Amino acid sequence: MYDYLIVGAGLYGSIFAYEAKKRGKKVLVIDKRNHIGGNLYTKEYEGINVHYYGAHIFHTSNKKVWDYINKFATFNNYVNSPIANYKGEIYNLPFNMNTFNKLWGVITPSEAKEKIEEQRKKYYKENPINLEEQAINLVGTDIYEKLIKGYTEKQWGRDSKELPPFIIKRLPVRFTYNNNYFNDLYQGIPNGGYTKIFEKLLDGIDIRLSTDYFVNKEFFDSIATKVLYTGPLDQFYDYQYGVLDYRSLRFEHEKINTENYQGNAVVNYTDKETPYTRIIEHKHFEFTESKTTIITKEYSVDFEKGMEPYYPINDQQNQEKYQKYFELAKEESKYLFGGRLAEYKYYDMHIIIEKVLERIEQEFENETNS
Ligand code: FDA
Repeated sequence: MYDYLIVGAGLYGSIFAYEAKKRGKKVLVIDKRNHIGGNLYTKEYEGINVHYYGAHIFHTSNKKVWDYINKFATFNNYVNSPIANYKGEIYNLPFNMNTFNKLWGVITPSEAKEKIEEQRKKYYKENPINLEEQAINLVGTDIYEKLIKGYTEKQWGRDSKELPPFIIKRLPVRFTYNNNYFNDLYQGIPNGGYTKIFEKLLDGIDIRLSTDYFVNKEFFDSIATKVLYTGPLDQFYDYQYGVLDYRSLRFEHEKINTENYQGNAVVNYTDKETPYTRIIEHKHFEFTESKTTIITKEYSVDFEKGMEPYYPINDQQNQEKYQKYFELAKEESKYLFGGRLAEYKYYDMHIIIEKVLERIEQEFENETNS
């Protein structure tokens, strides 16, 4: 008999498993995929660690989280500085003085502010009714047309005029020549890839891969006192209140016989015509030197039940549906729920770590730490 069955070998499940084992608990981890690591999984091809489910850059300002993850990896000094390709024109992201200089030839922050203000004022709408109006209110027409419109429309699969304004609450605009995407104190990529972190977290723990909990739920429930479930919450309750909606992604990985394909790890394609939203060139995450390279084209696609869920659609309808599932989950005593899928929320990795560490404290509060 296990003390805990953990459904999902992603970041949430694996940290919980590690901490439970540390406290003397007997743990079984299952995952329906054929590997550990969840969406952080990296696979090595010819010396390059490929971020299999999209680019993952670790960043946090929380020292406790940073110290925690550093127990399982050493991080390099990678700084995320994505660039945008708009019909062959290259711009720095996030929007900053380099971007404005390229767009308008402006040199000083006050010149850039003046230009944005001029464009905002010209088309300002008191009560924006769609994403287009909202974005123009925030940053004016040039940035919107070249760097937001096409990318957002591809991401959501809809015209900006049909998208609600709340999707874009604010758009970070920086009046410095700083291309560092994140403002956090700590940032980097684990040397050797993320999967190594999971090998350490799950060392000495029973694991069954390619094992879907729902194919044998009764059996798995019978062999553990408690179950931590990190999969989709609607599926746990057999979709009784309907399917929670997501945006999904398709990744096309490709080996190319060149040393350096695009000169940067992340390039966003911000025009509408290019079918993918971005290309990742994995070797740049770890400054890997090799004769060939591996790139991944990322496509945003509509979600249907059974597909891989990536980005939750946190509109009112879905939130209400989720709330109903949440009410059911609250009443459970055998089952614990956590992670991006069970909580129906986009969480960066550092938030997942904060949350699982809190959960562990609650779960084991009456026990002494070993
Ligand atoms: P995760 O999805 O990783 O794990 C859940 C596991 O449960 C999966 O392995 C799944 O197979 C398994 N499972 C589900 N149902 C099951 C069943 N029925 N039976 C058995 N197993 C089951 N964050 C960040 O900080 N920096 C970044 O750069 C990025 N980049 C990024 C890019 C993209 C494209 C996305 C979508 C997300 C990011 N993130 C990110 C967020 C990051 O991916 C996220 O924080 C973690 O993956 C969350 O870990 P979880 O353990 O919650 O879920």
